Amino acid sequence: MDHNHPHRHHRRLRRVLIVAVVVATGCSDGPSVLEPAGPDAERIVRLWWVMLTVAGLVFAVVLWFLVGSIVRARRAAPDDDMESPGTTGRRLVLWGGLIGPAVILTGVFTLSTLDLRALSAHRPTTVDVTVTGEQWWWRVAYPDEEVVTANEIHVPTGEQIRFTLESADVLHSFWVPEAGPKRDMIPGSTNELVLTFPKPTRNRGVCAEFCGLQHARMQFHIVSQERPAYEAWLERQRRPAPEPTTDSQRRGREVFATSKCIGCHTIEGVADAASIGPDLTHLASRETIAGGVIPLTTENLRSWIEDPDDLKPGALMPPSTMDDEDLDALVAYLESLQ
Ligand code: CUA
Repeated sequence: MDHNHPHRHHRRLRRVLIVAVVVATGCSDGPSVLEPAGPDAERIVRLWWVMLTVAGLVFAVVLWFLVGSIVRARRAAPDDDMESPGTTGRRLVLWGGLIGPAVILTGVFTLSTLDLRALSAHRPTTVDVTVTGEQWWWRVAYPDEEVVTANEIHVPTGEQIRFTLESADVLHSFWVPEAGPKRDMIPGSTNELVLTFPKPTRNRGVCAEFCGLQHARMQFHIVSQERPAYEAWLERQRRPAPEPTTDSQRRGREVFATSKCIGCHTIEGVADAASIGPDLTHLASRETIAGGVIPLTTENLRSWIEDPDDLKPGALMPPSTMDDEDLDALVAYLESLQ
């Protein structure tokens, strides 16, 4: 006799519920295609609702006939002839299996084609941003502005922005779900995507193509701000790194300039020979580190430098070998890089 059974049943039910809740709410703080923040995303979500409604209706009709036929088969006497379809059956196959699907598929195809055409229509742009996907972060450059940054893209509100998309290693895909379609970043070739952000917002973007262990932790933010604020931001980003103002920061700069950090990172005005990792010249002007996934706080920055692999297994940055005092000074300096 299995007296444990009700308990086990309970546990399983609870597990199912937990999974359901996680699936239903797990992404609630993330970007959602259902909350469009721009005309392109609105177009996509409109098409999505049409498709969902049509598919839902088809599903309901199919289910209706399925249940109906099961009920009829059960009620039927054993010697009833279930083989011959009859006129009703033939008509059902003609309409439900041929004409209906043809009409629905043609309709959906037409709507998709119209939307695709609208999304790829040529639009004059005012800002050029080159984004390069790397394992697992985003290199961001404004070629006309001599600005280089990472993981956080500022754009002027209401203007058409041309994103030139490249990859430094493997396939990635650039996607701001609330703004528009995704577009692949392909090694050795260049793709383009034009997006617009009608309101001042901070939208999250994600990598939408599996690119290795930390694919899920390859994110970025797009900060849409009014022209003057955007230009002020550009102006600040163009400047070399700010001078340290405290002893600790001064020591931190010394640590940076004499450590292996400079083998990969640039801080304009201190060491600018390397570009393997993100440019750190204005690190503190960004809200996140580690490919847009960890808020920039003293604690996080410190543990990130101490052992990146701990937070993001597989990250290319090696663990730090410096002592606590040097590490604290380096963090103090990096946090001053507004
Ligand atoms: Cu980059 Cu997925």
